[in-house]
Amino acid sequence: MIRKTTYTLALGLAALAMLSSCGKSDPNSPGYEFMPDMYRGTGPETNVEFKNPYVKDSMGNLLPAEGSVPRNFTVFPYPNTPQGDTLASKFWDFPANMKRDDAFYAQGELLYTRNCVYCHGAKGDGNGKLVESEKYGAVPPNYETRMKEGALTVGHIYHVVTYGKGVMGSHVVQLNPEERFMVAAYVQKLGRGGKTEAEYAAANKPAADTTVTKKP
Ligand code: HEC
Repeated sequence: MIRKTTYTLALGLAALAMLSSCGKSDPNSPGYEFMPDMYRGTGPETNVEFKNPYVKDSMGNLLPAEGSVPRNFTVFPYPNTPQGDTLASKFWDFPANMKRDDAFYAQGELLYTRNCVYCHGAKGDGNGKLVESEKYGAVPPNYETRMKEGALTVGHIYHVVTYGKGVMGSHVVQLNPEERFMVAAYVQKLGRGGKTEAEYAAANKPAADTTVTKKP
């Protein structure tokens, strides 16, 4: 009998507690929180407006220490200036351990097709679809011409892809350092009219010096 009364009382109290959470003046109030620590973490959280000394951005995300770079990141030391372009052209080259095999060129072609072809064209002659549609005011240069002029160095291509040039925008977000080398290798291949480095060098060897110097 006593048990039954206690049970009914408990049930009644529970119902009262439930009902009392309704009809509050603030409709957004969650009411009584039985286990607040399950709702509110004690650690610093991301993506919340939360003032934490280690959190600097407006979304409350932790920022990496100043000057830190991701693992395996290739630091490009040349600035976005004409001088930086010249220096990169002279000194920035494929890393010594970067194998430029068929798979490497195939990857370069894929990236070129995704990011560059609509302006520069499949042959790199500057007649991409966007250029032909005449909706784009500028005409990119012909890679073969630029190669003959000796301007299409790895460093120059890398510099242009990183910072952009003239009306061409930077592709730093689309291509990571390794991908920039891949695309640069493919751009050079287009500049050589599809020839490999060895074939191109053989075909463009300066004519052997046949002048016979007479002995006095
Ligand atoms: C929206 C069109 C557009 C896209 C996309 C584009 N380019 Fe260009 N690119 C240009 C134009 C226009 C120029 C000429 C800029 C100038 O000289 O003022 C240029 C110049 C260049 C040059 C310099 C050539 C020289 O003669 O010095 C290189 C190298 C180059 N682009 C590579 C690329 C690569 C690689 C991609 C893809 C990752 C790419 N571009 C994507 C329009 C584009």
